[in-house]
Order: sequence, then structure tokens, then C-alpha cells
Amino acid sequence: MISTTDLTGSTVYLTGAFVALGLLLLVVRRIFDRKGIKHIPGPPSPSLLLGHDYAYACQEEACSLELQWMREYGTTWRTCGALGNDVLMTVDPKAIQHIMQKSSYNYTKKIGLTHSAWLLLGPGIVTVVGKDHQRHRKIMNPAFSAAHLRSFLPLFQRIAGKLSDRWKGELMATGESSTLLNRWLSRATLDIIGEAAFNYDYNALDGGERSAISKGYEDIFKDTEYLPGKATVLFRAAWDYIPTPLLKLIRYIPVHPWTRIRNLNALFEEYGRQIIREQGPNTDTEKKSTSKDIMSILIKANASEDPKTRLDDEELIAEMFTLTLAGHETTSGTLTFLFWELSKHPEYQARMRDEIRSVRARVTARGGSEFTIEDLESLTLTMNAIKETLRFHPIVVALQRVAEIDDVLPLAYPIASTSGEVVTEIPVRAGQLIHMSFAGYQRLPDVWGEDAHVWNPDRFSRIETGKQTTNVGVFANLNVAAAGVRACIGWRFSVIEMQAFIAELVENFQFDPPTEEVEIQRALAGFLFGMFPVVKGQAERGGAMPLRISLAQ
Ligand code: HEM
Ligand SMILES: *[C@@H]1O[C@H](CO)[C@@H](O)[C@H](O)[C@H]1NC(C)=O
Ligand SMILES: *[C@@H]1O[C@H](CO)[C@@H](O)[C@H](O)[C@H]1NC(C)=O
Repeated sequence: MISTTDLTGSTVYLTGAFVALGLLLLVVRRIFDRKGIKHIPGPPSPSLLLGHDYAYACQEEACSLELQWMREYGTTWRTCGALGNDVLMTVDPKAIQHIMQKSSYNYTKKIGLTHSAWLLLGPGIVTVVGKDHQRHRKIMNPAFSAAHLRSFLPLFQRIAGKLSDRWKGELMATGESSTLLNRWLSRATLDIIGEAAFNYDYNALDGGERSAISKGYEDIFKDTEYLPGKATVLFRAAWDYIPTPLLKLIRYIPVHPWTRIRNLNALFEEYGRQIIREQGPNTDTEKKSTSKDIMSILIKANASEDPKTRLDDEELIAEMFTLTLAGHETTSGTLTFLFWELSKHPEYQARMRDEIRSVRARVTARGGSEFTIEDLESLTLTMNAIKETLRFHPIVVALQRVAEIDDVLPLAYPIASTSGEVVTEIPVRAGQLIHMSFAGYQRLPDVWGEDAHVWNPDRFSRIETGKQTTNVGVFANLNVAAAGVRACIGWRFSVIEMQAFIAELVENFQFDPPTEEVEIQRALAGFLFGMFPVVKGQAERGGAMPLRISLAQ
């Protein structure tokens, strides 16, 4: 039975209407479409209406289902989505490469997913498609050039130093403290993105007077996407079949989580307008030309003659939310998992600290005070730990894409069809949904070695990712930040930011595992495929990584 406890009153009727309309449109589509992927084996569907979607969204430990299916069916298999849709799930590097890198816009995002992003962000780079997306990308690219990213290093170091000083202050009194590491890192990266993106101080690290946005963000994914009810899963599935103008009405549904999302959105709108007023076309040019933040670059672009390089105000504000959302929890989440692993691998942590301190000695010897980009690059053990954490704990565990054309998917690893034939490529029809599990791809022993199921950064000194047979990703052949026309624009930004934080924090602090009674779980924000840590049995309290920290010897 469908539980309606997570919805109330009029929403139940609205949801019912949406689902009914979705089903009707689906049936119509089915009548005209008989080809499919029925010959690909996969787990039997547990429910006609919900398929595997409910079980997937409600995994207590993120990706345990995918890893189980990999053991049972190999690298490519078929599952059932809600409303009876077949889904092709794959961890095959060649299939992923074909979809993400070789097909340009021929594989697009799922409508329902894009709409989730639209509700939260508006018409920014993540939600726009086709020509509009090219325009956004073209305007944004210069802000993420290597040269420009370099100029952010002092900002990363200043905020990392601020966090470090706060911890030192607390430890002076207590010696050791158990702290919610994820919260600190999330606030620090929020402060960074605020300044880097639009020269705005979110005040997230300053305990007392945190900005409304910093508070508005806390646990947004856990509150809106974690462990959805069955009705919610159906409601979301129906989005793929509903015309966009109707979908836009969802934001006005007067219950949680839509009210929560709308409030955050309104808050952003207000801040965005204020920032445009302060930095926009009508302010004095002197201030503008000296600002280095991303927003100034976008505003400058807006003033150009060529309509191809202009963003209107609504798009500009959407870009601000987009950068804030895409650019802070991703980095802080990855760092959180990295420090967790360091706490469980004290020898590796000690080796990293030694390496950082020896480079520090070099910096001091030449009379410098801060690490340069080159110094950070020379920290091999730090870099390997970043790569290994992105491999083992990919914050975005999967992406889904829809084929826009009839196409043939190549496979690196053949599978057996339901009738026992060898399948080396899979014909897909326009409309086919494909679920690419990066968490799964990044556990393939064939690509990563027999110890792929353990966290071991030293593997990156062993394998030459450039020489791996199938190139899937922009960074160390990982697929954490996607690839191709819609690859993550900020992954380099994130890598430098992480290097700066690790250098500062590992040099000064010792990280030890949570106290014994605490068990950490990797939770899944079901509809966005985002992963975050929680304490087992206390997930309702939100994202948590209670590590013990003390001053390093
Ligand atoms: C560890 C850190 C990060 C991870 C794992 C990550 C992951 C991703 C992934 C998987 C996508 C593709 C989403 C999709 O196609 O549906 C993406 C896109 C994007 N990311 Fe990141 N990201 C990270 C850091 C950042 C940072 C720091 C920024 C900004 C400063 C950023 C900005 C963006 C933007 C703007 C897009 C949309 C690009 C487009 O659609 O053209 N990301 N990211
Ligand atoms: C996209 O699909 C069209 C139509 O099938 C095809 O002509 C084109 O080559 C494809 N583009 C890419 C980059 O594969
Ligand atoms: C962008 O340009 C449009 C039209 O040229 C103008 O109305 C708008 O105020 C500009 N916005 C910003 C933020 O510069």
C-alpha cells in the first residue's frame, strides 16, 4: 500500500492527479513503442508501480544495492523504474564514456531530475539545455580558467586558517574534542564559495551571527531527499511525463519539503537582487574592474554587445544559487570522508603529515609563509588521498541520462543475454533511461586492482591512470565530476581548495575515529544521488561525522 503519511490534505489529491496523468501519458507512449531492453537480465521488479525506485531511494547504506547487483549480474543489467519503465544500469567504462564524452547533447538529463534542480536553483547552468547551456558555459568558462583559479588560493588558505584558529582555541581549553567535522567543513566551504563566486560573506564560520542563507542550507538534502515515502517516489516518477508548465506549479504546494525549498529560494532571490544592485551595471566601474569574483566576470559579460554572451538577471541569480549549491557540499563532503579515512588509517595520516611538514620546511627556508600551487602539487600523498577518496566515496554516486536518439551502446565488458547469447553492444531507443553508477565503476577490480574494495591511496602511485584502456573521466580517470559537455565546471577549483585545507589541517591536527559506540553510515539523498555521512540510528539529526581531533605532535 502507498503510505500517505508524508503528504497531507489537498496535496494527496494533487499527487493523485499527477500520477494518474503520468500513467495515462506513459500508456500512450507504450502503445507506440515496442522495442526495448528486455533481453538484458536483471533483478525481478518488487512492485508494479514502484519498481526498484523505492528500494533504491531507501537504501540505508548508499550504493549497497548497486554493489549487490554487480555481484549478481556483472557490469550492465536491467532494473525497473517506477511506473513500469525499464532502466539500463551500467558500470561499464566504455558505455559511460560513450554517453558522457562522445555523444555531446545526444544524451540529456532526465526531465524529473532537471526539474528538481530547477525548483531549487532556477534557470542556471545546471538546468538549462542545448543552445542556452552552450551560452551559459561559454560565459562561465573564463571564471574557471587555470590562471583565474590560482588567484583563489589565498582565499582558500585564509578560510582554512580561520577554521584552524577556531579549533586551536577550543583545543587549548580541552586538549581533545569530539566535533561534527562535516558541519565545520560545510560552513568553511560555504564561506569560500560566497567570496569566490560573488564577493559575499556568508559568515558561516562566525558562530554568533551566521547569515540566514548559511542557516537555510543546513541539512537541506537530508530534509528534502532522504528516505522518501512511497507516495513521494511515485509523485517524483510522474514528473517525467508531465508538461513543464504544470510541473512549475509544484513549487506552490504548501507542505514540506516544497515550502522549505521555496523559502530558501526566496531568500536567495532577495540576496541575489541585493548583490546585483551592489555590483551590477549601475555601480561605479572602479569597484567592478578590481573585483575578481566569478559574479563580476558574469556581469562584465552581460554588458557585451553579443547576445550570445549575455545572461539576464534571473539567469544571473540562478547562477549564484547554482554555484553555492554545487560548489560547497560537494567539496566539504569529500573532505569529510577523507578525514574519516585518515582517522582509520593513522599510519597514512602520519606519512602525509611528514610530507606536508617537509614541504613546509622548504617554504620557510626560502622565506615564504604560505604554500604555492606548486608546493601543494608536490604533496603526492595528499593528492593520492584526494583521488582515492573521490574513488571510494564519490559524493555524487550516479548520474542518469536519457537517450535522445536511437543509438547503440558499446560495452567494454560483454554480458550474457536472457537467452544466453553474448552481448557486446546494446541498441537503445530514444527515450531509454540509463543509470550510470560511478560508485560501482570505481570498484571494478579490472580497472582499479584486486583491492578495489578498500581505501588505499597508494594505488595511485602504482597504476597509471593515463594508460587505462578506457578513459572515462577528467581527473585520474574517475567519474566523480562527470565528463564531456556537461562535466563539472568546478572540479579544479575543488581540488585546489581541498589541497589547501588538507595541508593546513593535517599539519596541525590529529584526527581519530569516532568514539566506539558510534557507527557511521553513508546515507543517500535519494533523488539527487548525493551521499552524506550520518550516525547509524540517529539519521534524523542530520548529516554527522563526529571525529575526535587533537593538536598534532
Ligand atoms: C568534489 C567536488 C565536486 C564534485 C564531486 C562535483 C560533481 C559534479 C557532477 C557529477 C556534475 C554533473 C552533474 C550532472 O550532469 O547532472 C557537476 C556539475 C557541475 N558542477 Fe561540480 N562537483 C564538485 C565541485 C564543484 C565546485 C567546487 C563547483 C563550483 C565552484 C562546481 C560547479 C558545478 C557546475 C556549475 C556544474 C554544472 C555544469 C554543467 O551542467 O555544464 N562543482 N559537478
Ligand atoms: C547525435 O545524433 C545525431 C543523429 O543520430 C548524429 O548524426 C550525431 O552524429 C550524434 N552526435 C554525436 C556527437 O554523436
Ligand atoms: C544585463 O543586461 C540587461 C540588458 O542589457 C540589463 O537589463 C540587466 O540589468 C543586466 N544585468 C546585470 C546584472 O548586469
